[in-house]
Amino acid sequence: MTSPELENILDHYRNPRNYGELPDADIRVKDSNPLCGDVVEMHIKVRDGVVEDIRFRGKGCAISQASASMLTERVRGMRLEDIKSIDRQQILDMLGIELSPVRLKCALLSLKVLKVGVYGYLGEKLKPEE
Ligand code: FES
Repeated sequence: MTSPELENILDHYRNPRNYGELPDADIRVKDSNPLCGDVVEMHIKVRDGVVEDIRFRGKGCAISQASASMLTERVRGMRLEDIKSIDRQQILDMLGIELSPVRLKCALLSLKVLKVGVYGYLGEKLKPEE
């Protein structure tokens, strides 16, 4: 069973965009999915409150890694303040497929990493529901 959305996820998994590291990153942040140990790490270069450059690396399932790849494309050029309002629904819309609760954790790992990094950089506290 395949769909354009699934093909897109597999493409991002096999050919991750913005993969790697940024030696001069202002934000370096890493977290794992407690259910499986899969990891996403992000490096972000910030200029004037905007994501100037971003890279990620990690290991894990197709959903977690594809979600990270898509998210890096989405937030490049975005204001950190605007990243704070990205919610889980936007990630699900970005992926475009139905997910079980377990896979939801996979999909949201990259958003969690990104938000921890952004809030930390801004010196603000991340609320548990975010
Ligand atoms: Fe580990 Fe998906 S199975 S993040």
